[in-house]
Amino acid sequence: MSLIRVPKGTRDIWGEEIYLWHKVEEVVRSVAYSFQYEEIRTPIFESTELFARGVGEVTDIVQKEMYTFPDKGGRSLTLRPEGTAPIMRAYLEHGLNISNPRVKWFYMGPMFRYERPQAGRMRQFHQFGFEAIGFPQAACDAEIILIAWLVSKKLGLENLSLEINNLGCNKCRDEYVKTLQDFLKGEGDNLCANCKIRAEKNPLRVLDCKEETCQKVIHSPAFPLVQDFLCEECREHQDDLMEILRELDISFSINPYLVRGLDYYTRTAFEIKTGELGAQDAVAGGGRYDNLSSALGGPPVPGVGFAAGMERMILLLAKKYDPSSLKKQSLFYLAPLDVSGEKALLKLASFLGDRTIPFYLEFGDKRVKYHLKKAQKMGINTVIIAGKEEKERGELVWKDMVSGEQISMKEEELLAKLLEERKKC
Ligand code: HAM
Repeated sequence: MSLIRVPKGTRDIWGEEIYLWHKVEEVVRSVAYSFQYEEIRTPIFESTELFARGVGEVTDIVQKEMYTFPDKGGRSLTLRPEGTAPIMRAYLEHGLNISNPRVKWFYMGPMFRYERPQAGRMRQFHQFGFEAIGFPQAACDAEIILIAWLVSKKLGLENLSLEINNLGCNKCRDEYVKTLQDFLKGEGDNLCANCKIRAEKNPLRVLDCKEETCQKVIHSPAFPLVQDFLCEECREHQDDLMEILRELDISFSINPYLVRGLDYYTRTAFEIKTGELGAQDAVAGGGRYDNLSSALGGPPVPGVGFAAGMERMILLLAKKYDPSSLKKQSLFYLAPLDVSGEKALLKLASFLGDRTIPFYLEFGDKRVKYHLKKAQKMGINTVIIAGKEEKERGELVWKDMVSGEQISMKEEELLAKLLEERKKC
């Protein structure tokens, strides 16, 4: 029988790499704590309609990348491809627009997109994200960008660049979309088959197309850019944001071609990019989504947020840190020589576990030599040995791996020495 492997585009996260994940999670939690964003955990699957309406029917995510399935009750469900639409659903479902309209939330967890896997692009991947709902101010966009920036800085990620754009609002977007549509009509044959449809149904999506022919059209001098169509309020919003970012010393550039792959954005859109990961260069992305609530059947509610790809952050971190240096080292190796040794050392394990002291407990009837070799390999300096003979003497053996000294002692004496030793570390 052949062995079963993980599904394509998924992977096990294990071994020393896990310490890099802990590092990212720790930094995210510490920044969330500092800015007082509270954690929210939404379901892994949601009604398919949530993403069709929230992310947008004519997006790659909804058209090509969703894991959608009927459940046994005939409901169409989808493994979440992103976290923002579910969070807005939760906000509306819990009536927060009435009881507590301003919320700041963060989240971490797996997302699912049926994409062509490559380094930094998975079918199951992980995001952490921050969302501030109920705040229309440009200063809140700046807080969100500052959080993304701070997390990256605290992780020591370097050579990141921030690109921003403004996608307009209900007032000015229509005129831009109409102009863009007219322009694209004139480009007919120069567009790829997909973009011919996009030009009709959702012309902003053409800016995301990687096809060479479409890229030529997008970068032609006459191509209309949203920056030239912003109304006064959108321009002011962008000016305010830029001023705050400058004051915060966060460098950025305006990328007038940046539209992002999800339809819910209004005004600010941004991406944090790295030059170190090849094609998968976006480490984080986000923006303002003042129309998302209405798209989901709620009242108009402003919102802004971002999500970062944790796999991509881990790839960058792995270039910087040796993950084993992040591992919490075991202080003691508990070496049983037989069954009675196991019993004595489990008692010791209970004592150490109760005090959150890290140790490694082996099992079985191995000889002392085996244990010492293993402890040395694990870099543990203190080995506690117990077996039938020690039990008969009512003692345990303390072996110092550095000096080679070996002392037989009573349990109480050994416990006191363990605590003393721990203080030194
Ligand atoms: P997004 O740009 O689709 O935005 O995803 C955010 C980040 O998730 C990307 O910048 C990338 O680092 C990572 N990512 C996306 N797809 C994959 C993949 N297949 N494999 C590995 N990493 C991936 C959103 O999801 C929005 N919900 C962000 C947001 C929050 N906007 C407002 N609030």
